[in-house]
Formats: sequence, structure tokens, C-alpha cells
Amino acid sequence: MKKISIGLAILLVSLIFHSLLMAAEENEPGLSLKETFQIYVRSIQSSDLKGLFSTVTENQKFFFLTSTGVLIDTRNGYLKFHEDWFKEKDWEMPVELLEAYEGKEYGYTVAIFHYRSKTLQGGMYILDSYFTLVFHKEEGMWKVVADVCTPINRYYTEANSEIKYTSDQAYLFDIIKSRRTVRKFKSKAVPKEHILKILDAARFAPTAGNQQPWKFLVIQDREKLDKLQNEALFWYLDEYKKGRKPSGEELAKTRESLRKVLDNVLSAPVYVAVLVDSKAKYPDYILYDGTLAAGYLMVAARALGYGTGFFTSFFPEAKIREFFNMPDQYKLICFTPIGIPDEWPDTPTKKKLEDIIIFESFRKAND
Ligand SMILES: Cc1cc2nc3c(=O)[nH]c(=O)nc-3n(C[C@H](O)[C@H](O)[C@H](O)COP(=O)(O)O)c2cc1C
Repeated sequence: MKKISIGLAILLVSLIFHSLLMAAEENEPGLSLKETFQIYVRSIQSSDLKGLFSTVTENQKFFFLTSTGVLIDTRNGYLKFHEDWFKEKDWEMPVELLEAYEGKEYGYTVAIFHYRSKTLQGGMYILDSYFTLVFHKEEGMWKVVADVCTPINRYYTEANSEIKYTSDQAYLFDIIKSRRTVRKFKSKAVPKEHILKILDAARFAPTAGNQQPWKFLVIQDREKLDKLQNEALFWYLDEYKKGRKPSGEELAKTRESLRKVLDNVLSAPVYVAVLVDSKAKYPDYILYDGTLAAGYLMVAARALGYGTGFFTSFFPEAKIREFFNMPDQYKLICFTPIGIPDEWPDTPTKKKLEDIIIFESFRKAND
């Protein structure tokens, strides 16, 4: 027992000593290019900004191409990048040196880093990348003057899982999960190209017998939207009054709060009424088809940074039909805004996966 604790104490002391040594490690005249490279790498691995910048040129002119393709062309920029990065925790970056060349004035190293960091969801972000450092001799010391990253692989894993997802795959899931119903917008215009791109994605939704019964009525005219807002107020109040006898005060209060809601709900620059054609080949399925198209529309809009909403209650079908001269054969699925959210709402509580999945079969009542 005593032996173990003495062993542990020695290990601890040597670890502390080693970490002090690591922290104090700095470039000095006479070191080889490879030794300087090792200081550079170990300084990064221990988030030691001072040690790292003892291996970096004193000149402002710098060339740093990050693994995401961003060009940072000053020493200060390189410093800021590392300052920000070193504030992060829960990452590691083993490095493999592939090649080193030491000339008289200039030299270079080619290496691979294997960056791993914990994601907010408890999984891992993995980035493998080449990085080429160009060194220049300054006052007897090798100093990095350029750092060019060339990414090889970038992927994500879930917590405690080995299965890898590419950035594109992870992005798609993020977009789906971050779509939100938005009820207040900024007035910033949506380019026509974006409107078309979103509706182009919507028309690729699955549809019964490939019947594609949809029509998308796009409204951008502010005057028309303001008129719609006034009318929607009356439609809603009419509904509200049905079956109750609200006092004048109650009615005024309701009108005021409703006006505010509609002000916000109708603040987007673009609205789409998603319609389906009841004369389609399989009319029993048009509601499914239209709803799926609306879902695709909302996810596509989210990918371009827009909020949407599957609005039904403020915009009754009969009223919308009249307002937009909608032929009888069309049914309204929903009325959705497309716009930059005033702010992105928090995600409302979603049911847990385990509460909504049943594998293979429900249990028999007496199981
Ligand atoms: C069939 C359907 C009808 C809806 N009707 C309305 C509506 O009339 N007004 C409204 O504000 N939101 C409406 N919503 C949006 C939901 O309230 C919203 O999707 C839900 O609260 C979850 O929020 P999220 O979309 O941000 O995940 C509707 C959604 C669906 C699918």
C-alpha cells in the first residue's frame, strides 16, 4: 500500500514537473527546424500561446489558410485565432510529422493533425487535416511564416458511438431540428431566387401516385397583406363572438391583443398559401400530399435562414378563398410566412424518442 502511494506521489510530482516544463517551453536560437516544430505542436496541444508564438514570425505579414478555407493574413489574426481556440476545452490534437526540410533560410514541415473535440450533444467532432508550415530563419531561430491546412476528413459521432456522420449529414439533421414556427419577422426582403428555390424543394415531397396536386400562392404585396391583416381581425373576432356574449370591454381587449398577434404574424415579407387540387387523381390523399409539401418548404426555408409557420387558425379557408379569388377546386393546407425571424424561438418541448418509438409490435394487453 505504502509502495503504491510513494509511486503515485512520484508520478504526480513528475506530471506537475512535466506540465511546468511544457508550459515554459519556448523557442531559442540554435534549435533545429524539427525541434522548433515540436515546440510549436506541443504548445498548441497544451494551449500555450506564449510558447506557440515564440515559434511564429515577429513580422505582421503572415499566411494562414484555415481548415475551413478562411484566409488569415496577419500575425495578429493568427494570434486571435489561437487565443479564441485555446479558450475552448475538451479537445485534443495528436499530430503526425510526415516530412521536414531544413534549408539555409527557409524550411518546411508537412504533417497531419487529428483534431477531436466534444460536441454540445456529448458526441465528437473529428477533423483530420494536413498542415504545411513554412519556416523562415529570424535571428538564429526558425519561425513559422505560413500555415496552410488541407482538410482530409471531417465528421461527427453521437455520444458513446463509433458511427461517423459527415458534415453534410450532420448539417441536414441540424436544419431539420432547428426549423421553428416563427410568429414575428424582420422586414428584410427575401430574394425571388430564394422563394423559387424553397418552392422547388417543396415540389420534391412524396405524393400519392406522384399526383403532385399542389399549387403555391405567393403573396408579397404589402398593401394586400395589410388588408388581409384587417380582415383576419374581423374573421377571428366573428368566430370569437360566436356562442358567447363578450362585454364591450372584453371585446376591445381581445381585439387589441389579436391585433398585436396579427401584426407580428403578418410581419414577414413573403407568404405562401399551400393549396391542393381536389380534382387530382387520388383526392383522398391530397391533404397528406399538401402537408408533406409544406413540411419540405419549411425545412428548405430553414436551410436558407428563414422562419416559417404552418398557420391555419387565423386564416380560415373560406375567407382565404374569397380574399384571393381561389377557385373552388383548391383546398387550403396552410398559410406560411417566409422571413428572417425577429428572433429564433426556443425549441418547444419535444417528446422523448423512447416515448414515441415502438419496435416491431405493440405488446398484447396481458403481456
Ligand atoms: C396542422 C398544424 C396546424 C397548426 N396551426 C397553427 C396555427 O394556426 N397557428 C400557429 O401559430 N401555429 C400553428 N401550428 C404550428 C404549431 O403550433 C408548431 O408547429 C408547434 O407548436 C411546434 O413548434 P415548432 O414548429 O417550432 O417545432 C400548426 C402546426 C400544424 C402541424
